[in-house]
Amino acid sequence: MTANPVFVALDTTDPDYARQLAERVRGSVGGLKLGLEFFNAHGPDGVRQFLDMGLPVFLDLKYHDIPNTVAGAARAAAALGVSILNVHAQGGAAMMRAALDAVKSVSPSTQLIAVTMLTSLSDEDLPSVGLTPPVGEQVLRLASLTQQCGLDGVVCSAHEIVRLRKELGADFSLVVPGIRPAGSDVGDQKRVMGPAEAVAAGASRLVIGRPITGATDPAQAARNIAESLGISAV
Ligand code: C5P
Repeated sequence: MTANPVFVALDTTDPDYARQLAERVRGSVGGLKLGLEFFNAHGPDGVRQFLDMGLPVFLDLKYHDIPNTVAGAARAAAALGVSILNVHAQGGAAMMRAALDAVKSVSPSTQLIAVTMLTSLSDEDLPSVGLTPPVGEQVLRLASLTQQCGLDGVVCSAHEIVRLRKELGADFSLVVPGIRPAGSDVGDQKRVMGPAEAVAAGASRLVIGRPITGATDPAQAARNIAESLGISAV
């Protein structure tokens, strides 16, 4: 059976609520994503509470600092036993390589991926931070650098999947947020795509938050998404 590509984003500072959500959707998702909001409230101990659920955990802390500091942070995070960690590709090649060495030295199975350009940045924002539009060219440049550094993949928007898949090959992991099943609220995401369309375009994993966590029945919402992907859920 195909592995479920959906990582549910548990974006909350309330650990009981996060756990309750995770319990409700565990049979219908492929993993859990914990980010800065949860981590800054509960730290490594908070993350450990989710490692016993039998689902891979993506710790989404987007490191961006000098190589030595990022390597130390990534080493400590990998030692927790999470399945996916990430850095900002804009931290540069030396930083990504240092992070990769650190992660694989303590946990060879942990995947290290990179954020290329934040999806909150558009073409109009780039000159003010010294970059030349279009965003798509910056994304491709940074994703190529990420691959050259040996990382496992990138986070990208749904609209970049086809080009990155074509340029970077079948084995590079494309982790895609901004997923909206038909009929769900777009919220603050700008460039969205349905789950089945994103997988058909070449996404490896989908990060889905509010369409599941904000639904009246999160378990049913997660089941519906799994079924739309041809995956049987419980
Ligand atoms: O609720 P929603 O489905 O929009 O949640 C998307 C998740 O993906 C959030 O946890 C958000 O932080 C994360 N994310 C994103 N865009 C990125 C990287 C991560 O929306 N470029």
